Amino acid sequence: MIRAVFPGTFDPPTVGHLDVITRAAAAFDELIVATGVNQSKNRLFGPQERIEMLTELVEPFPNVRIGSFEGLVVDYCRAEGAEVMVKGLRSAADYDYELQMAQLNRRMTGVDTFFLPTAPEHAFISSSWVKEIARLGGDVSTFVTPAVHARLLNTL
Ligand code: PNS
Repeated sequence: MIRAVFPGTFDPPTVGHLDVITRAAAAFDELIVATGVNQSKNRLFGPQERIEMLTELVEPFPNVRIGSFEGLVVDYCRAEGAEVMVKGLRSAADYDYELQMAQLNRRMTGVDTFFLPTAPEHAFISSSWVKEIARLGGDVSTFVTPAVHARLLNTL
């Protein structure tokens, strides 16, 4: 039985995240989608709202649940009994950044990281750009689910 954690900020979750969740749910016995609540990036949505959006997003997947963590993601993985993490990779820039984290995380605790290449049609989507485009009045309706889109429009 392999339990995996898909960690991220998910501010907000995008269709790219949903694609990673769909594929990781098929690849692992159990998947925990975990939102980090202590990073210093500018947030649009608070932890509770991100958890609500993620809970709606994973509703169709019986082997996926939502969690949240403070502190090191590897400590959260160990507390949840997860041997591995899953990360989506959009680009070589993502790879350079994620490779170092994966190596540090494995050296610290033995928790390994599995990379999933993002589907090409989602490769340009990021939560940060979605927020900026939406703030400036652009149409992001194809980058997020309808439920997330409605929350974005209500929050901006
Ligand atoms: O969606 P993001 O912003 O790319 O997610 C980044 C996240 C939360 C997965 C990453 O920043 C993280 O793991 N933070 C937790 C703190 C930690 O473990 N830092 C050491 C990494 S080697």
